[in-house]
Amino acid sequence: MRVNHVGEVCAQGLYMAQSCVTRDPQLRSDLLAAAREETDHLAWTRERLDALGSRPSLLNPLWFAGAFAIGLVAARVSDQASLGFVVETERQVSAHLQGHLRRLPEADLPSRAIVDRMQRDEERHAAQAQAAGALPLPPPARWLMKAAAKVMTTTAHYI
Ligand SMILES: [Fe+2]
Ligand SMILES: [Fe+2]
Repeated sequence: MRVNHVGEVCAQGLYMAQSCVTRDPQLRSDLLAAAREETDHLAWTRERLDALGSRPSLLNPLWFAGAFAIGLVAARVSDQASLGFVVETERQVSAHLQGHLRRLPEADLPSRAIVDRMQRDEERHAAQAQAAGALPLPPPARWLMKAAAKVMTTTAHYI
């Protein structure tokens, strides 16, 4: 759940940066609408972490700053690239959450409810960004993002 919380911290950074940069008012309001749902996710994962007697990642400020910086870069390229980045990010997060749902104990109903709802929200965020005109990211960008996500999720297990 700490890994999921880190993901939501990153979502805050990404959407915040992207909504600051775009000059398209419709896109900005779409990004902010998704960001509001990410704020719910952040709160749910944090509450669940607390209830499980765990703690958030100590590196969260670093993850936030990194995600914000990447969001800025993607958004500065173009709105379509920015949306492409949203699609790829949300798909990777959704796949991670599906995997987590398979590993979660059947009896841990509160965690399952959170992960299941987030997974469906992330899927929808990807679909909305796709419909808004996202450009597919070049494969090297996708591999880099997967590698960065791997570092993040592995580290968040411990720190
Ligand atoms: Fe989320
Ligand atoms: Fe999302």
